Amino acid sequence: MREYEIVDTNAENIDGCSICRYKDGNNVGYRLKSNWLKERYAEGLRFKVLRSREFGDIGIIEYVLGNHAWRPVEAEGYLFIHCLMVNSKHQGKGLGALLLDSCLKDAKKSKRLGVAVVTSSDSFMAGSDLFIKAGFVTVESAPPYELLVRKLKKTAPDPRFVVERERLLKKYRKGLTILAADQCPMVPKWVAEIAEVSEALGLDTRVVQVRSAKASRELPTPFGVFSIFYNGMLIADRPVSATRFTNIMKNHLPQATS
Ligand SMILES: CC(C)(COP(=O)(O)OP(=O)(O)OC[C@H]1O[C@@H](n2cnc3c(N)ncnc32)[C@H](O)[C@@H]1OP(=O)(O)O)[C@@H](O)C(=O)NCCC(=O)NCCS
Repeated sequence: MREYEIVDTNAENIDGCSICRYKDGNNVGYRLKSNWLKERYAEGLRFKVLRSREFGDIGIIEYVLGNHAWRPVEAEGYLFIHCLMVNSKHQGKGLGALLLDSCLKDAKKSKRLGVAVVTSSDSFMAGSDLFIKAGFVTVESAPPYELLVRKLKKTAPDPRFVVERERLLKKYRKGLTILAADQCPMVPKWVAEIAEVSEALGLDTRVVQVRSAKASRELPTPFGVFSIFYNGMLIADRPVSATRFTNIMKNHLPQATS
């Protein structure tokens, strides 16, 4: 084995791999994500693990065909990157670029229009810098999110956000609703934290599972994996800590201030 190897996972070998820093097969986030991946491979999803001879699994890239993206984007004909991550101890050595390059090579080989990605200047997703260095350009911005593309066919239409805010605001009109998808293994932890605080505040709390790429593309935020509504208002479009959530609720509930 070379110093680093990119392992292409599938339904047979995924359970032996680290999934975005999670290694314990009993962890609920790991289990849900592993099952989620097993349902997606047949749709063309690629989940590649960066394996170091010395340190084991230290990074991942996950991408799908544009029409199977679990983000509110229109990116038909492109490969769409859900996640790119290198463990913090191993960053700055060209490993993120290595993973990205394997996706770009795949896009060229399979004659896609190019590669698209949603980035965030917040810390829970990859930022745009690495992509810009690799020749991506920003086509839409919805701070802290950006939609970037590297086209392989010059005349290809730009991918775009399809964030449908109004429809869902009407749907989640009563109480506290957490929308959550198994695409990210951290989601169960975020949900449990918010549900606990929410229940302690006496709120009528419900968790709605986002079960398909189509449902994910109808979500009201570019991060189509986790969001929180309260009485028809989008109050968080990304993971928030229990403290931040309590502070947000102080604006809505007099009893949360005590
Ligand atoms: C974005 C991310 C993947 C980049 O990974 P990385 O391995 O640090 O990326 P690279 O090393 O390829 O590039 C980073 C920098 O190192 C430089 N670099 C490239 N090759 C290098 C080398 N051989 N030696 C030293 N530095 C190098 C790059 O030029 C780049 O420079 P910059 O700091 O000026 O931008 C990483 O920062 C990350 O995982 N962030 C968190 C993302 C996240 O939260 N994901 C969660 C969703 S799954």
